[in-house]
Amino acid sequence: MTQNPKPRKKKHSLNIDAPLHVTGRTIYLDDMPELGGTLYAKVYYSPYAHASITSIDYSEARQQPGIIDIIDHSRIPGENQIGGIIPDEPLLAVDELHFIGMPILIIVSTDELNAHKASQLIKLEVEEKEVIVDVEEAYRRRSFLSAPIHFSLGDAEHAFTDCAHVFEGSASSGGQEHVYLEPQGAYAIPQQQGMKIFSSTQGPTAVQHTVAKVLGWSMNLIEVDVNRIGGGFGGKEDQASPWAAMAALAAHICQRPVKLILERGEDLQMTGKRHPYQSHYKIGLDTSGKIIAFEARYLQNGGAAADLSPAVLQRTLFHSTNSYYIPHVRISAYSCRTNLPPNTAFRGFGGPQGMYVMEAALDHAATALDIEVHDIQRKNLLYESAEFPYGQLAEACAAQHCWDEAVESYDLSGSMKKIEDYNAAHQWSKKGLSLMPICFGISFTNTMMNQARALVHVYHDGSVGISTGAVEMGQGVSSKMIQVAAGCFGLPHEHIKLESTNTTRVANTSPSAASATADLNGKALQDACSQIIHRLQDLLRDQWSLTEADELQIDNASAYVAGTDHLMSWQELVTLAFQQRVNLSAKGHYATPTIHFNKETSKGIPFAYHVYGTAITTCTVDCLRGNYELDKVQIVHDFGSSMNRAVDLGQIEGGLAQGIGWMTMEELIYNDKGQLKSGNLANYKIPDIYSVPKEVQVQYLNTPGAELAINKSKAVGEPPLMYGIGAYFAIHQAIKRFNPQAVIPYSAPMTTEKVLLALYSKRDSE
Ligand code: MTE
Ligand code: HPA
Ligand code: MOS
Repeated sequence: MTQNPKPRKKKHSLNIDAPLHVTGRTIYLDDMPELGGTLYAKVYYSPYAHASITSIDYSEARQQPGIIDIIDHSRIPGENQIGGIIPDEPLLAVDELHFIGMPILIIVSTDELNAHKASQLIKLEVEEKEVIVDVEEAYRRRSFLSAPIHFSLGDAEHAFTDCAHVFEGSASSGGQEHVYLEPQGAYAIPQQQGMKIFSSTQGPTAVQHTVAKVLGWSMNLIEVDVNRIGGGFGGKEDQASPWAAMAALAAHICQRPVKLILERGEDLQMTGKRHPYQSHYKIGLDTSGKIIAFEARYLQNGGAAADLSPAVLQRTLFHSTNSYYIPHVRISAYSCRTNLPPNTAFRGFGGPQGMYVMEAALDHAATALDIEVHDIQRKNLLYESAEFPYGQLAEACAAQHCWDEAVESYDLSGSMKKIEDYNAAHQWSKKGLSLMPICFGISFTNTMMNQARALVHVYHDGSVGISTGAVEMGQGVSSKMIQVAAGCFGLPHEHIKLESTNTTRVANTSPSAASATADLNGKALQDACSQIIHRLQDLLRDQWSLTEADELQIDNASAYVAGTDHLMSWQELVTLAFQQRVNLSAKGHYATPTIHFNKETSKGIPFAYHVYGTAITTCTVDCLRGNYELDKVQIVHDFGSSMNRAVDLGQIEGGLAQGIGWMTMEELIYNDKGQLKSGNLANYKIPDIYSVPKEVQVQYLNTPGAELAINKSKAVGEPPLMYGIGAYFAIHQAIKRFNPQAVIPYSAPMTTEKVLLALYSKRDSE
């Protein structure tokens, strides 16, 4: 006789935030009720890309009604320094201005309008200096932000001499504005002791650390709280900190709460973006199309300060061979200092820039040899135990599996035939197709950052509260954390409350980044939950006098032993534990095992695992106008064993759209004075519903998933962005169908203007 409950049915996974979002109840920073006496801060920033300040007069601005204070660098009690990796960036300019948008003063006011008026009364006089915008110019002058990085595998130098075909060329990719829906901002509130800060950040600890440094306080006096953020995409990994530091500085000086939220236009001007790259490649193949050797030099436009550039630069090298095995590799990367706002993390973190160059080199080779680029791609895909240029071996390698599955299940040859027929029948409209394999390493490339913690309380009514270091930015990590805790305790989701991300509950957090947030924080959370479960199990074994052989289960909101009468509801169990004075709280910790990397030799095992996939992209180009449409993108993606398909599918679709935007339409234009000309969302165009692919199909590749992925559900945040590179090459293919002699420089984004130039490139001069 058994009264054991039936196994819990797996609930359809959801994004727990969706109902809040669609009903407008989600609370972002600016939705928080304000305290009485709250002041507003506005940043006065440099209108020059490179200059020395000769005088600055804000006496008139100070007289403007409502102005409480105007703060310059001399009022900073601690260090005027916000550089995360290299201390090379002041919070407020002292006497040198290095980019347009560099903060100089903080205007503190009782209302935003007066602060705006005051900013127009500030008189700044400068001596203008020479501005460098172009990355090659910076490289020529050896103007670097950090030391160059080199990776090598095999013996590239000699290998080229054995190659039947060698091709050399250059490829450039543009920057990208994050356009998180919620601009940068923070709300700082002086406390009896210390300061509490609500910040729109991916990195609460980075904010805590920066504020502490600027105020000259210890970290324990700063509490940072993040409920959620309205998108980050890497733009708030480090670059959320200065606004919090300015708000905290003003709050400290005025001893009142201070809110600082950038307007969209200010955010676009002042914050860094994806790094533009200018690269040179050399690729060597044998007669069968196997890649033998690859050399490249990547020039990264880092802007005026290092920010995260050295780390981004390194990831460019990690992903420079994309999803291919190349036995001889020699690659170097340089982070160049220019007078642009310091560029920063952006989904893919330098990886996409490297992968684009690889695909350009393959396209170059295929075009020159007059063969299909997919034949070269397929021939060189990574296989099990193939060595990456950094020494790690491909494990559970799904590169070929994804590719073959895509080719077969989406009927590639059928699609190609249809495209051929279409192109034969249409003179002024051509279709093109591309395949884009991806391979992306999961883990922070800085090994130290791969750690996380979580705090779990089981309250004595049986409800559960969890805290982790994960920041919800739309990527669905909240849903995943709740799923993890619900899974551990065997409780329905409704029993679990996820608390805000707060530095006093979970300390020393890594930013929510590198696609690793769910893995790191989820594993720390599992650690905390299982400590409590173990205590409950010990209690029950005692209570029911169980032996080791008895299979005690805590699941389905109850505890029971299969095949016996022993049964207790979760509620009864928690009550008993509380009465017996069992600790119902736990702190979990996780540090990714097995990973390491030696920066001197550029070798190691930097990644917990890799994520693979393949996208087939089809597009139609209007050969009179240069306009194009993406007909469809068909993806086979290696999710491992996805723990939340709704969330993961959203990440694929969003990442894809963002990658397509970067590769096709998002064009950042700076003039030679370092002025951003595409400084608003009317002339900086991000993908809308009309420019995303008309059809996106995603197939879940069935793989066991990685042990180091949370619940074997592989990280999904960044990898899909790189499917967008396929759109770029599909457009190239279509152009070549119209004009086989077309000369198309590898210069992303592939805007309509560039498409039109390419369509008529050689023909006109014939
Ligand atoms: N998805 C949404 N909706 N909003 C975001 O800001 N950031 C991306 C990706 N997906 C982002 C997003 C980036 S840059 C990263 S590194 C990951 O999410 C971070 O979250 P994860 O580690 O939980 O994947
Ligand atoms: N990815 C994302 N963010 C990071 C990384 C990384 O590898 N390293 C430091 N910040
Ligand atoms: Mo993502 S670029 O690692 O925040």
